Amino acid sequence: MTGRNDPCWCGSGKKWKKCHYPNQSAAKKQKTSNLKEEYLKKHQIIIKDDKQIDGIRKSCHLATQILNETCKIVKEGVTTLELNDFAHKLHEEAGAIPAPLHYGNPPFPKSICTSINEVICHGIPGKYALKQGDIINIDVTCILNGFYGDCSRMITIGKVNPESQLVVDVSYESLMRSIAILKPGIFISEIGNTIESYATSLGCSVVNQFVGHGVGVKFHEGPQIPHCRNSIHIPLQPGMTFTIEPMINGGVREAVIDPKDQWTARTKDGRPSGQWEHTLLITDDGYEILTPWER
Ligand code: MF3
Ligand code: CO
Ligand code: CO
Repeated sequence: MTGRNDPCWCGSGKKWKKCHYPNQSAAKKQKTSNLKEEYLKKHQIIIKDDKQIDGIRKSCHLATQILNETCKIVKEGVTTLELNDFAHKLHEEAGAIPAPLHYGNPPFPKSICTSINEVICHGIPGKYALKQGDIINIDVTCILNGFYGDCSRMITIGKVNPESQLVVDVSYESLMRSIAILKPGIFISEIGNTIESYATSLGCSVVNQFVGHGVGVKFHEGPQIPHCRNSIHIPLQPGMTFTIEPMINGGVREAVIDPKDQWTARTKDGRPSGQWEHTLLITDDGYEILTPWER
């Protein structure tokens, strides 16, 4: 019997495993490629191959590292611009590009998002200095060798009021509970259903004006991943990469976008909002957290 490492029967001189070794049946290959085409055409979902996954994983690991390092310098008195400049330098040193900078219309003016207290997301770093009782979300997205990694974490400054602490804890728990159910075949809707049931059971609301998203080859790919109850009955497939980033409010769910900068999204009632974000990969039997920050 020919072994995997023996010369191939075809006479190429290469090992059998590198040549005509039948690692995937023709039928299975055809099925995979049909599914890829269907997901792209029907849902604008890019199912990634191993090479893309490798690039996305590297970018995600860098984003995680930059996020973690930036979180370490957070303390009372630090301005959000200082956090931005620190994170920007880490991108440069790693040969990466901060994806938010100049992104969208109007172009986002800074390299990371810093969202404090009643700011739900897309807060713009500036001269504001952190003070006791603040909660802040830092969101890092980097581009490394053309691949995107996207993640965010919350930090509390000193002792925070109970409602602020609640949204920090509930948004974290919402993210982790929705990740725990991920595997091929479950519907996208099950993510939002899990999050909204949990968050509302604790008296919080779930923002529906912003969503998680496919990510990796582009910043914001299909599909949208709503964090609230929904009926998107698209089954997850191995090779999908997307974010889950629930925004959980202490009061009403409605967001109001700042008319001046057209980015900063605040809660309509001024009550606090929390958010944590991971980029996830769907594997053959479950998931991989591509941005393995720890709380
Ligand atoms: N990183 C954010 C997200 O999780 C998007 C920021 S868009 C920006 O999707 F332009 F504000 F940077
Ligand atoms: Co995101
Ligand atoms: Co993000």
